[in-house]
Amino acid sequence: MTVGKKSHLSMRLMRTTWRLRRKFSALPAKCVALTIVSLVIICVTVVLYHMGVFTHFLEKDYYTEFSYPLQGNLQPLVKELILGNKPPIKPINVFNYSYLKLCHDKCSSNANLKLLFVVKSALHNFEQRQAIRQTWGNQLHLSHVEVRRIFLLGTGFDPEIQRKVDEEDRLHEDIVQADFHDDYRNNTLKTMSGFKWAVEHCPSASYVVFSDDDMYISTKNLLRFIRNPSGYPEKESQPLAVKDFEHRDRSLKEEPALVAEGLEEEQNVFGNRNEESKLYAGYVFHSPPQRHHSSKWYVSLKEYPYHLWPPYVTAGAYVVSRSALLDLHYGSFYTKYFQFDDIFLALVALKINIEPVHCSEFYFWKKNYSKLGYRDVIASHGYGDPDELRSVWNEQKSAGHA
Ligand SMILES: *[C@@H]1O[C@H](CO)[C@@H](O)[C@H](O)[C@H]1NC(C)=O
Ligand SMILES: *[C@@H]1O[C@H](CO)[C@@H](O)[C@H](O)[C@H]1NC(C)=O
Ligand SMILES: *[C@@H]1O[C@H](CO)[C@@H](O)[C@H](O)[C@H]1NC(C)=O
Repeated sequence: MTVGKKSHLSMRLMRTTWRLRRKFSALPAKCVALTIVSLVIICVTVVLYHMGVFTHFLEKDYYTEFSYPLQGNLQPLVKELILGNKPPIKPINVFNYSYLKLCHDKCSSNANLKLLFVVKSALHNFEQRQAIRQTWGNQLHLSHVEVRRIFLLGTGFDPEIQRKVDEEDRLHEDIVQADFHDDYRNNTLKTMSGFKWAVEHCPSASYVVFSDDDMYISTKNLLRFIRNPSGYPEKESQPLAVKDFEHRDRSLKEEPALVAEGLEEEQNVFGNRNEESKLYAGYVFHSPPQRHHSSKWYVSLKEYPYHLWPPYVTAGAYVVSRSALLDLHYGSFYTKYFQFDDIFLALVALKINIEPVHCSEFYFWKKNYSKLGYRDVIASHGYGDPDELRSVWNEQKSAGHA
């Protein structure tokens, strides 16, 4: 901007100020004061509205007024779907995008799969996927536990990225890609694509871990947790050496009572399951919806009118047993779509009577790293840096905690 233009502007500004001052000095002082007060009130109101303060007064009571479509008892409908029958009421929310990559042989060779990792990944996160393959997603990490991993992707507009994804899948055979636009606002679609895939293409997995692609996960601690969710971490827990752990695992296999329990779970997947085998666990929240208009998690009263969310497991990492997976998958057919995947699952779980199990060793933030401090950590957020993930995981592995 030239000096001339600048002084021209400031001249105009001075003239306007002068004109305004003349106008206002003609008004009675009381009137000016009133105008200013009204303006302040309007501003404060607008700010409070924006912050969602008024919205809270209009919220309905979660404890007494909750209902969410579809209303009614879903359990008989879910049971029919699990049995492969046609239920009397038509589903209202079905994931019907087609799969471009299906990985259909991923689980076929093994009837006794312990864990399936389903990783929600973004198209361009090639490096993060590679780090996961080399660390907690390594299918050969534990010689005595069968593990599989897949990455869930949507689609994008860049043919070059798609070409690289095709190449990646040829090399690693672990990409499940469905035909919806890959965007974090479509996270519920991605989650639904994962549930559908796990139900239909990996029936042999006893437990499925859903995770983001920026997580650290300890497979060993996860297995410890699954063995006794309510008692984790074990009270006497001394630092477990690798050998120690394997020994415990073997003794578990040889214990008749536990083996029988395991079998029962397998057999009961399609029948009268015992409630214990329905595990849906992670870091559980009891919190109110965000009404602040600029929040990434803003939700309108129309979309969700209650003052609390149902108890929900944060979506960064959580584990479900096969029977909980089936219930949540088929329950989702009768639950109105919701944009946040963790809330959506919580709504399904509430409607089909699955209570989420809380464990504070699933960190939805990044837990400060120290070698000993990570002894019992099952999952921690904040590992989007592939090198950091590799180094933390390698250290924990050699310490016997991963
Ligand atoms: C997919 O499901 C939705 C309901 O969830 C329905 O409105 C839509 O017509 C279905 N599309 C196809 C191709 O079946
Ligand atoms: C979600 O995916 C659908 C189907 O591809 C697409 O129409 C929609 O725009 C996507 N939403 C966002 C927010 O990207
Ligand atoms: C974690 O580390 C950061 C930076 O190193 C430090 O400021 C913070 O106090 C630590 N938090 C805890 C809980 O130790």
